[in-house]
Amino acid sequence: MRLLVTGGAGFIGSAYVRLVRRKRPDALVVNVDVLSYAGNLENLRELEGDSKHVFVRADIRDRAKMESLLREHAIEAVVNFAAESHVDRSIVSAVPFLDANVGGCVSLLEAARAAGVRRFLQMSTDEVYGSLGPTGKFNELTPLAPRSPYSASKAAADHFALAFHHTHGLDVVVARCSNNYGPYQFPEKLIPLMILNAFEGLPLPVYGDGGQVRDWIHVEDSCEAIDSILERGRSGEVYNIGADDERANLDVVRAIIRHCGRDESLIRRVADRPGHDRRYATDAGKIRGELAWRPRRRFDEGLAETVAWYRANDGWASRVRSGAYRSYYEQQYAQRLAPGRERS
Ligand code: NAD
Ligand code: DAU
Repeated sequence: MRLLVTGGAGFIGSAYVRLVRRKRPDALVVNVDVLSYAGNLENLRELEGDSKHVFVRADIRDRAKMESLLREHAIEAVVNFAAESHVDRSIVSAVPFLDANVGGCVSLLEAARAAGVRRFLQMSTDEVYGSLGPTGKFNELTPLAPRSPYSASKAAADHFALAFHHTHGLDVVVARCSNNYGPYQFPEKLIPLMILNAFEGLPLPVYGDGGQVRDWIHVEDSCEAIDSILERGRSGEVYNIGADDERANLDVVRAIIRHCGRDESLIRRVADRPGHDRRYATDAGKIRGELAWRPRRRFDEGLAETVAWYRANDGWASRVRSGAYRSYYEQQYAQRLAPGRERS
């Protein structure tokens, strides 16, 4: 198999590239990443010297470059992870999300069509379905109702990918996944941010009442699911991915505190995320039934392993948190954590 993976220096993309190289020694992986703030070649250090892994620094919006890479390497399938992925950043400025997530996806679809790629997998999110009340789950027929600039851009990309299937006959599959956690996740996201702050005894900023619910999946489980969709998913279909592990944010933070040997005095209730989605829960019955995929890790076990990984990889974490991360953290949290700003 000859694959082009985009966003393969990011969190999920790098886990997927590592998985493919482990599972299929003969597969060629051309890994295209622009190396934004979230892209990090250190995430690929296990692959140093691997002649079947070719890294190319490029932007998926560069249609001509994408088409020439697809032709040069006789690529059979594209897996598109490349995106701006953080909801809070999309609230600060939506334009990069429109550019990378919609413009980038469309350029790549055009290039794939022109180069005659056999299959195109678009990595999407359960956030395109909007927000749930206390009950129910999203399935693949749930109408799309994105509510943040990030999820609006992901929903638009899904529509384009499926439109290329219907209009041009491109073999497209879409994977809509719940919240991932695990090694190498950039510490702007809830779990790594809380783990690294807890290690250092820094405040743990919980948005609003902390009662928002997310459905957590370990990144290695989601990558196995993505791979099964790429291999055996039906053309033109959408597959949800989730591990049935719903947790309220405050419970996740409390579990992290226990694993880190800290106490709850670190928790700070801070100003809420504007437009904060209350609850996500993913019905993964379709992928379980059609593709016989099952998650292997439960959340409690996966979280303990993840805390241990961040402890063992403090060099990675401190390099990632130097430089631009500091100004981001300041921008997001300085006001929220200022004395007198906490919510009761
Ligand atoms: P991430 O931010 O860690 O990585 C994104 C990668 O894409 C980075 O390496 C970045 O450099 C690269 N990139 C961004 N714009 C690019 C461009 N124009 N051209 C080339 N590369 C570009 O994100 P992640 O958490 O690994 O998410 C990967 C994908 O999975 C995204 O599409 C995201 O929407 C989706 N997703 C993420 C989650 C999650 O919980 N993290 C859940 C569901 C879906
Ligand atoms: O559901 C899938 C989505 O999950 C992916 O598509 C996104 O790329 C990914 O970022 C993630 O989105 P969330 O907004 O759910 O993830 P995040 O880690 O930013 O936040 C998880 C929850 O924790 C959310 O309810 C907001 C809350 N939170 C987050 C941060 C960073 C806090 O309470 N405090 C924080 O400091």
